[in-house]
Amino acid sequence: MPLEYPLNPESMDWSGLYPDYFTAGTSGESEAPTASSGDREEVPAAEAGGCAASADGLKRKLAGEPESSLSLAKKAKSDEGESKSGSEDKVVEFADIGCGYGGLLVALSPLYPDTLMLGMEIRTKLVNYVQKRIEALRTIQDKLDAGISSEAEAKLEQDAAKRNELISNEADDEEDLNEEEKRKVEEAGETKVVVDGKYKNIAVVRMNAMKYLPNFFAKGQLSKIFFLFPDPHFKKRKHKARIISTSLISEYAFATKIGGICYTITDVEDLHLWMKEHLDSHPLFERIPDEELLGKDPVVEAVFNCTEEGRKVTRNKGQKFLACYRRISDPYDN
Ligand SMILES: C[S@@+](CC[C@H](N)C(=O)[O-])C[C@H]1O[C@@H](n2cnc3c(N)ncnc32)[C@H](O)[C@@H]1O
Repeated sequence: MPLEYPLNPESMDWSGLYPDYFTAGTSGESEAPTASSGDREEVPAAEAGGCAASADGLKRKLAGEPESSLSLAKKAKSDEGESKSGSEDKVVEFADIGCGYGGLLVALSPLYPDTLMLGMEIRTKLVNYVQKRIEALRTIQDKLDAGISSEAEAKLEQDAAKRNELISNEADDEEDLNEEEKRKVEEAGETKVVVDGKYKNIAVVRMNAMKYLPNFFAKGQLSKIFFLFPDPHFKKRKHKARIISTSLISEYAFATKIGGICYTITDVEDLHLWMKEHLDSHPLFERIPDEELLGKDPVVEAVFNCTEEGRKVTRNKGQKFLACYRRISDPYDN
């Protein structure tokens, strides 16, 4: 199936993705022009992973942990407060490139409840899964918000317990769960309390980020861009398929505001070195020392632990290599 893209960021209609923030026709054009790729996409194989990292799970974890983590959650909110703009001119600020099963979006959503975040994913099955996951979370949040009975609450508790059991039993073969089972698992256990933002601020689109990212984002629109456990493309002749390259970094830099952060993490050391080499030598990004972020940036904990791929690496006791970069100004801009 060909992919459809807006011709440019101005023509993107966001109302279907973020109905609480945009009414049809107010974002982009009412009949937003789209382009169809017509490409036969070569879809890289990605390994699936069930999400045990839920947003309220992260919040609970933060809440149950010593002050340092709790203050990270508070910091997330205060950072957001600083960057918040009027809702009429709301734009997507976080982009998760190759979002997979959407674990990062779900984890960050309540931490930055008024920040629009977009997962960009090439695989149809995963996009459908993330869409259903978000819909389910929103529905449950609305029900919880409307006040559910204590019976229903008890059922949610039971389902959450079952889900935990299922996850620990099936930890190594989550790929075997079909989409519907996965959705139910998420739906049952992921949310038991009304969380800030009620997951209205997250969405996913099917797209090829290596070709059409500039169709979605205007200059300097993003404050965070994520490349979490990207496909490694091990073979040398496949390196050109890597999502980080000098020309693509220029596109990512265009979309990212000065001071915005690009997060990369992988368990493949060779890929880490590749991403580092390309980003280190790019004039529009500078490396942020890990010490500046670890334990200080609330997002980094989610980057490490809340994506499905990241959790799989943890289960397999693999190493994770982090490299984050700040977008700096272009000396030729003035
Ligand atoms: C290894 S998975 C990691 C998923 C997720 N970030 C995580 O940490 O769980 C890489 C993901 O990137 C997606 N992907 C690969 N190339 C892409 C592209 N050009 N545009 C959008 N998504 C892409 C794959 O389909 C896959 O879901």
